[in-house]
Amino acid sequence: MMKVLVIGSGGREHALVWKISQSPKRPEIFCIPGNAGIASLSECRPLKVTDVKGIARFAFDRGIDLTVVGPELPLTLGIVDEFERLGLKICGPGKAAAEIEGSKVFAKELMKKYAIPTAEYEVFTSADKALDYVKRGGMPLVIKAEGLAAGKGVFITHTLDEAQRAITSIMVEKAFGPAGERVVIEEYLQGEEASFLVFTDGKTSIPLPSSQDHKAIFDGDRGPNTGGMGAYSPAPLVTEELERRIMEEIISPTLLGMEKEGRTYRGILYAGLMIEGNRARVLEYNARMGDPETQPILMRLDTDILSILEAIPDGQLHTVQTRWNKRPSVCVVMSTKGYPGDYPKGMEIRGLERVKALKDVMVFHAGTAFTNGKIVTDGGRVLGVTALGETIKHAIDRAYQSVEMITWDGAFYRKDIGRKALAREYS
Ligand code: AMP
Ligand code: GLY
Repeated sequence: MMKVLVIGSGGREHALVWKISQSPKRPEIFCIPGNAGIASLSECRPLKVTDVKGIARFAFDRGIDLTVVGPELPLTLGIVDEFERLGLKICGPGKAAAEIEGSKVFAKELMKKYAIPTAEYEVFTSADKALDYVKRGGMPLVIKAEGLAAGKGVFITHTLDEAQRAITSIMVEKAFGPAGERVVIEEYLQGEEASFLVFTDGKTSIPLPSSQDHKAIFDGDRGPNTGGMGAYSPAPLVTEELERRIMEEIISPTLLGMEKEGRTYRGILYAGLMIEGNRARVLEYNARMGDPETQPILMRLDTDILSILEAIPDGQLHTVQTRWNKRPSVCVVMSTKGYPGDYPKGMEIRGLERVKALKDVMVFHAGTAFTNGKIVTDGGRVLGVTALGETIKHAIDRAYQSVEMITWDGAFYRKDIGRKALAREYS
């Protein structure tokens, strides 16, 4: 029997494990570390995702046939290189290629060198020079810590005072540790954001349907940024014509550039885009699938996901056809009040059984645990309630009807997920 290992513990990984569990290959599935939802579909192991050697040892000893990496951290630590050294098959970019997410300076230089559309920028290694620069420039500006900062290292500043505080926090107080040794200061781009993902084996790339995330904690995109409070797919703002241009002007030169740099990229490449009219520019790259975007996207996948994920390390993506359900899907993230700041854990979650009975609705677990026979909250983002519908409106209604069946002490969710798509669909 084929053995598959998924690494990670969020809604993205639950969606991956769920989709893999539907494969006609009937694989035996393992997950490191997993969560309470994932545990109903696979055998979970309590290793840390950063324990690259420990995970590789586990995969080797258990004879895992294919490993799929969810989060960025093990990728930037070189988990793919470690697996390949042991002759193990793994889907994801190697350490050098994962720099595209791990270093914003590397990503910006790549874009400049290969003429990939993005915001104008400067890089600084000294706080004084960065400050001089913002004093001379206009506002607003976007100030970014170079390295991984769990989505918190980006500051949009409207005044000199805000810019000064951002630079001090990143470079002097070292709020993000070594991730803040350099900053990227860039032009503020107007527009609406979309997430554009492709499967790629380094030669062939296949786009996934477009999607849109909702990063801010409150309705109307207000409040601090989170990992993502909801998503839908497709994003009507990415028209067929725009998709063609994104493939041609962004994805192809990025993959070609990576190859020329000796960092051939295999895995899933995620381009976070700012769209203005019919023009797309790159805000950032991620070396992995998005979360929550993966949840609505995989609800729409009608192809055996293992045939795709195996073809990536095998360099056989040209033999793969993907089919996607035309029906849109919407994911509403349920979090615990306090997130993205401090929040309590261990609250019992009620109502999951009722939603399980519904057709075309999946509750993907993010921060959950199984304690004394009960499913309890164990993170800021707790669940991703994801529904397919005949229209976006239908999918939104179905997702929210399901959300309302689920409760715990302090449950919180945005009420406006998908509203932007509705505005476009009916305009
Ligand atoms: P990043 O991690 O680089 O994607 O930045 C996080 C978020 O900051 C993005 O999703 C955007 O909402 C915002 N952002 C980043 N760069 C820019 C930019 N140049 N102009 C406007 N907004 C930006
Ligand atoms: N949803 C944004 C991300 O996965 O980075």
